[in-house]
Amino acid sequence: MAFRPAAWPRKLRSQEWYGGSTKDTIYHRGWMKNQGYPDDMFDGRPVIGILNTWSDMTPCNGHLRELAEKVKAGIWEAGGFPMEVPVFSASENTFRPTAMMFRNLAALSIEEQIRGQPMDGCVLMVGCDKTTPSLLMAAASCDLPSIVVTGGPMLNGWFQGERVGAGTHLWRFSEAVKAGEMTQDEFLDAEAAVTRSSGTCNTMGTASSMASMSEALGMALSGNAAIPAVDSRRGVMAQLSGRRIVQMVKDDLKPSDILTRDAFENAIRTNGAVGGSTNTVVHMLAIAGRVGVDITLDDWDRCGRDIATIVNLQPSGKYLMEEFFYAGGLPVVLKRLAEGGKLHRDALTVSGRSIWDEVKDAKNWNEDVILPLDRALTQTGGIAVLKGNLAPNGAILKPSAASPHLMQHRGRAVVFEDIDDYKARIEDDALDIDETCIMVLKNCGPKGYPGMAEVGNMGLPPKVLKKGIKDMIRISDARMSGTAYGTVILHTAPEAAAGGPLAVVQTGDMIEVDVENRRLHLDISDAELAERLARWVPTHDRPDSGYAWLHQSHVEGADTGADLDFLKGCRGAPVGRDSH
Ligand code: FES
Repeated sequence: MAFRPAAWPRKLRSQEWYGGSTKDTIYHRGWMKNQGYPDDMFDGRPVIGILNTWSDMTPCNGHLRELAEKVKAGIWEAGGFPMEVPVFSASENTFRPTAMMFRNLAALSIEEQIRGQPMDGCVLMVGCDKTTPSLLMAAASCDLPSIVVTGGPMLNGWFQGERVGAGTHLWRFSEAVKAGEMTQDEFLDAEAAVTRSSGTCNTMGTASSMASMSEALGMALSGNAAIPAVDSRRGVMAQLSGRRIVQMVKDDLKPSDILTRDAFENAIRTNGAVGGSTNTVVHMLAIAGRVGVDITLDDWDRCGRDIATIVNLQPSGKYLMEEFFYAGGLPVVLKRLAEGGKLHRDALTVSGRSIWDEVKDAKNWNEDVILPLDRALTQTGGIAVLKGNLAPNGAILKPSAASPHLMQHRGRAVVFEDIDDYKARIEDDALDIDETCIMVLKNCGPKGYPGMAEVGNMGLPPKVLKKGIKDMIRISDARMSGTAYGTVILHTAPEAAAGGPLAVVQTGDMIEVDVENRRLHLDISDAELAERLARWVPTHDRPDSGYAWLHQSHVEGADTGADLDFLKGCRGAPVGRDSH
């Protein structure tokens, strides 16, 4: 059914705090006046919370304070009342044990920041990997009008004449150091060259993928995803988004109007077309869970199966986000999907228009960056969901980042019980392993690590690397960085720490991987598997207090989004009881 804007003017939520003349308003309105706001700022105009994940410890979002000023300008221009609110910022490159453990904590705290304060609408200022899903999850649960503004990617990195991508090349360089092909001094120089401006990872890593997902879902203005952080047009996008959220509040255009099944299917297909991160799977499942849209891993496999990867960006391809922007950005990709019958054209966006209306005039300015279909990086770019006795609830693999010769393989398992076991043994030349083996890592899932760290793309053993081998099959219940690559099977569910079959794989077992037939099989009898599972006892760490305990006690499996069980669903943003 088409969206119908609400009548305007009407009484807004913020007036429960700022309207009228009672004892309570002196707390709510009077205290605000210590910041120099005149009376008419509280006259019923939309109050917009600018939820800002800026933090000096989240370098990818380090410029979001400046960008928020542009958002504020847009809100003022449109007759709104902007208030910037610092929110939990889970930095991918800083938080330990892994930012993923804090995605749900961030979403929980931000949801309550929205619900407990006088906001009529929200601008979600995000960038680094977990900041985007955590704010989208919170906004979806509160269901107040909301718009995403991402910080944008860093400029291209260049090193020794080569285009170098954040993350992607650091993984390559660290393996080159191990293989004796690069010195430590060169490594340090490369590190600085990769991250040469403000912004998020400049590859199609998780940050760029989630920015693309936000746009494909319809939660950001068209063209938002690819504008570089330091390009003046990023500021224009922020200002326009500020103007737009005020009208969204007047129209009462909410996340639940936008985040429909069609929107999620659009996003899943987009992820395949851009060669997006495997992390988008767990995040999109979690966001869908917040609005009650029943998206499953099977939808990922079904929607992504025949999607060609046409965006020639690292880690799957050659270029970086800066070039994607110059080529026309995501609107070109969405238009291409629509023309191929692979986009729900009527899906609503934050603009109030359909996604097709937003992208139908897009033009491709560089066919080496956004490829024609007959030159696609792969014709099967969607996330492949493998199932079998080793992953009854599913495991995922990104075909565009994998090696074709390993897509069908039978190999001997070399098992690491946890990440410490892997680190302790991987460099030992006595380790009985060669390139035909399958590396198996346990206890790195949502409960096991705890937090589902990005350790699934285990580095290869040095003795294999020295032979010039660049890839082996790796299987785990972990995630991997969106900037990473390789034939890496991730998110195996149920995870080892929950007693999934992964927990009982033993070194020497044979494992069969058949991506075409979506099969992941541990080659032992059903009786043997049942007996091993009956004997299994947990070996992972069990926190007994604090957030780690809460997380481990309530986190669900990766196959349903790894959200906390009590946070799923849309609770709205009712105005609570006054405390004065
Ligand atoms: Fe923050 Fe990549 S580590 S965007």
